[in-house]
Amino acid sequence: MGQPAADAQVTGVCYLNGEFLLLEEARIPVLDRGFIYGDGVYEVIPVYGRRPYRLPGHLARLRRSLDAVQIANPHDDGQWAHLFDELVARQATDDQSLYLQVTRGVAKRDHAFPKGVAPTVFMMSNPLALPTREQVQEGVRAVTATDNRWYRCDVKSTSLLANVLLRQFAVDQGAAESVLLRNGFLTEGSASNVFVVKNGRVATPAMSHLLLPGITWEAIAELALRHGMPFEQRDVSEAEVREADELWLASSTREVLAITTLDGRPVGTGRPGPMFERMYGLFQSDKRQPAPPARHA
Ligand SMILES: Cc1ncc(COP(=O)(O)O)c(C=O)c1O
Repeated sequence: MGQPAADAQVTGVCYLNGEFLLLEEARIPVLDRGFIYGDGVYEVIPVYGRRPYRLPGHLARLRRSLDAVQIANPHDDGQWAHLFDELVARQATDDQSLYLQVTRGVAKRDHAFPKGVAPTVFMMSNPLALPTREQVQEGVRAVTATDNRWYRCDVKSTSLLANVLLRQFAVDQGAAESVLLRNGFLTEGSASNVFVVKNGRVATPAMSHLLLPGITWEAIAELALRHGMPFEQRDVSEAEVREADELWLASSTREVLAITTLDGRPVGTGRPGPMFERMYGLFQSDKRQPAPPARHA
């Protein structure tokens, strides 16, 4: 056998059902419902200086996702936080991207929920691969696509086939993200939230079942409010997306990035705008704060 392709190379210490072990040694039974049905939920938590960023927000979203799919939360918040610390401490780098997944567990294949089955808990933490300096300074390309996903996009489900296809649609056109439109309105990106800026005002779709409540999105909303940037959560039409002065995308692994080309046409001046630069700076200082600000109820 030859060497595996770079993308297939996996290493590092992970966590599976109570045990820390090498990723290449971790195994789940083929009848795990995560494998058979994508029957599970997940989280991605950025870790800066070995501290999970906005941990309460991620834990709250995990609880909401588990509740939505009726999987009992296998741990309380304190136990999760302890497991994250243990996993993070076992990695070489200070800045990491912590991934965790909870599936409904292993059972004979049948769509309906099995009884008396323990959820599968898997976690890994990789070096945080942030956007390059060039991507931050120049912005990235994006394409629009029809949002053809289900009506529970607020659940951070491991059933990501539609998102995978939508991201590949962008990659096939040399773009970093697809910006999704449903019935003439912006929802989000294939793996990010999206903001438009017009005449110095930032707008983003309000949270609903049609999009994921991003933790980075929440951070940006909070920072905009705290620093007096005009900010609205409301429906954003396709026309507003196409005529924006600035477009941003936001996610845990991409932070906040300017989209400077949409469907091959420049967004605004075709360069990251002044509002982006301000928010990027605010985000950079927020992520290194020793204690995250208290969350709103
Ligand atoms: C569909 C979708 N929307 C939004 C986001 C951004 O969420 P967060 O900021 O919590 O990473 C993600 C993250 O992967 C996502 O997959």
